[in-house]
Amino acid sequence: MRVHKGRISPAAALLRSSKPIGVSDARLVYYGDRLGLWPLGEAQRDLMTDRPRCQGLVDTKGVREVKPPRDLSKTPIYHIADLTNLPGILQSGGLLSDALLAKTKSTSTNIGHSHIKDRRMTQYRVPCVGNRFVGEFVPFYYCPRSPMLYTVNQGLTGRPVGCQSTIVHLVTSIAHAVGLGRHWAIADNNAGSALADFSNDLGTLDDLDWSAIQAHYWRDCKMAKAAEFLVADHFEWHAIQSIGCFDVAAARRVRELLHGQQHQPTVSVQQGWYY
Ligand SMILES: NC(=O)c1ccc[n+]([C@@H]2O[C@H](COP(=O)([O-])OP(=O)(O)OC[C@H]3O[C@@H](n4cnc5c(N)ncnc54)[C@H](O)[C@@H]3O)[C@@H](O)[C@H]2O)c1
Repeated sequence: MRVHKGRISPAAALLRSSKPIGVSDARLVYYGDRLGLWPLGEAQRDLMTDRPRCQGLVDTKGVREVKPPRDLSKTPIYHIADLTNLPGILQSGGLLSDALLAKTKSTSTNIGHSHIKDRRMTQYRVPCVGNRFVGEFVPFYYCPRSPMLYTVNQGLTGRPVGCQSTIVHLVTSIAHAVGLGRHWAIADNNAGSALADFSNDLGTLDDLDWSAIQAHYWRDCKMAKAAEFLVADHFEWHAIQSIGCFDVAAARRVRELLHGQQHQPTVSVQQGWYY
């Protein structure tokens, strides 16, 4: 067995100790693609970096599959908006919830179904965040090319057929969203539906249906793909990291609108994010 050099983790200390290692002291555990020994009852950490590799303790069940903890800075979330809303978004310092937009009597271009928007403002609540209405949150999806974009592009919400060409994806990460210090929630389905369960425990991100979220063909898993990350009230512009556009013309227009702004997210064409 290969013994890794570097910082002395509990496993390395055990391997180096003069005490013979028996099955009652340690278990063989996979570290990614490597096998190693780990003391029972210790939280498992990476031998080289000493970072946690899984949340639980090594137990007596023997070899267990080790899943690295989710890197929240590499877990992107996406908000789609029509290009015509970008000046308003910049003027108010970021995205506003539908409830706040209604209060400010904004003239933003709505792209979603208005009856669904109403339900989110008056019917569906987020129990883990003071029972506030879903419409009081800025919504994000965990994927680009959402079912909502498909519906909007088909002309089913009152916008012209093919209107995706002027819709942009504003991209951030869960780490950035949580770092804003606002209340937030994870919805495991479309948050404007009776199917959604809400949580404000980041551990429950692993319980989302990631194969549905990442599915290219989603007819059979539409609701799970429409899972949402919700940020209360306001999502500050400085936390938007990048903007994905339909084509070169849309990217050029975004760059024009961002001209003179202090915070400049990366702008790129992302054809694969569209239908
Ligand atoms: N847009 C998304 O990425 C997204 C993600 C998850 C769920 N949903 C849900 O889908 C439905 C439609 O979503 P929607 O949010 O696009 O709402 P919407 O169709 O009612 O449109 C409102 C628009 O206003 C924009 N906006 C936000 N802050 C603004 C500001 N300060 N100035 C000007 N415009 C601003 C939003 O980006 C959005 O495009 C809603 O029910 C929504 O909750 C949307």
